[in-house]
Amino acid sequence: MLDAALLHRTVAPPPAALQAPALIECQGLRHTYAARSGPDVVAIEQVDLSIAAGELVCLLGPSGCGKTTLLNMVAGFLPPTAGRLRVGGQDVRGPSPDRGVVFQDYSLFPWLTVQGNVEFGLRMAGVPAGARAATAQHHLTLVGLEAAASRYPFELSGGMKQRVAIARALATDPSVLLMDEPFAALDAMTRASLQAQLLDIQARTRKTVLFVTHNIGEAIVLGSRILVLSARPGRIVEDIRLDGLARPRRRSSPEFNRLYERLAAAIGAEAGE
Ligand SMILES: Nc1ncnc2c1ncn2[C@@H]1O[C@H](COP(=O)(O)OP(=O)(O)OP(=O)(O)O)[C@@H](O)[C@H]1O
Ligand SMILES: [Mg+2]
Repeated sequence: MLDAALLHRTVAPPPAALQAPALIECQGLRHTYAARSGPDVVAIEQVDLSIAAGELVCLLGPSGCGKTTLLNMVAGFLPPTAGRLRVGGQDVRGPSPDRGVVFQDYSLFPWLTVQGNVEFGLRMAGVPAGARAATAQHHLTLVGLEAAASRYPFELSGGMKQRVAIARALATDPSVLLMDEPFAALDAMTRASLQAQLLDIQARTRKTVLFVTHNIGEAIVLGSRILVLSARPGRIVEDIRLDGLARPRRRSSPEFNRLYERLAAAIGAEAGE
């Protein structure tokens, strides 16, 4: 039962006794893009955030509010303009195999087989061929694609490509999985199936996941926690913990619908609707 206590806003942090050690920590985080003409664009501002190991955090917000910017900062693709960003207690200074990324567009290497794509990060890390092959097979089995190892990306459906991208991101055993609208281009049935697979993989691996989505239903189905970002410059305006909301989360349930309405109102207000 989703009650007021479960839906408490935690913009003020929970008591120290309830806080697990943070894996991802943002303090006063800001990112400004230098504009070629006109004023610079402040994409995110004053983001304070603490994510513990094993959380599956969904980041929701209106288009252009800075979700991808925040994700790319955690990935190490963009530096903070101000503030502090740490993962595993270390300042983020660039990309790392410890942070696996899955993008919206199918970002597989077209010249490599499925197996070659999943082995790529391991090859870069100098892992010997035998161990690479075994690790790739393990992760392809995890996403149910062990039979497709020798195929090329052009031979795969969109859903299969994203499953390979997930296997590739997991192959280096990162502590954090960063996903930027990874299922947005998929049809509704494939999307639901990949959501279920992601939950299953997360339950088995206990990976920490930061998942960007526009889709409120997707955030409710997946999240152990949902963050809502304000319109640009993005700041966190809602921080809702859903650990107590039973899975699978049925779209027909009153709890689901109450939460949906609340998030729609928060995003609508931010989008100026
Ligand atoms: N390279 C860039 N140079 C200048 N401005 C940029 C750049 N990338 C993004 N922006 C701007 O920063 C703001 C945040 O962009 P971002 O891509 O993070 O938003 P988003 O929340 O991911 O949006 P969407 O939901 O549409 O993907 C937007 O106003 C965007 O126009
Ligand atoms: Mg984006």
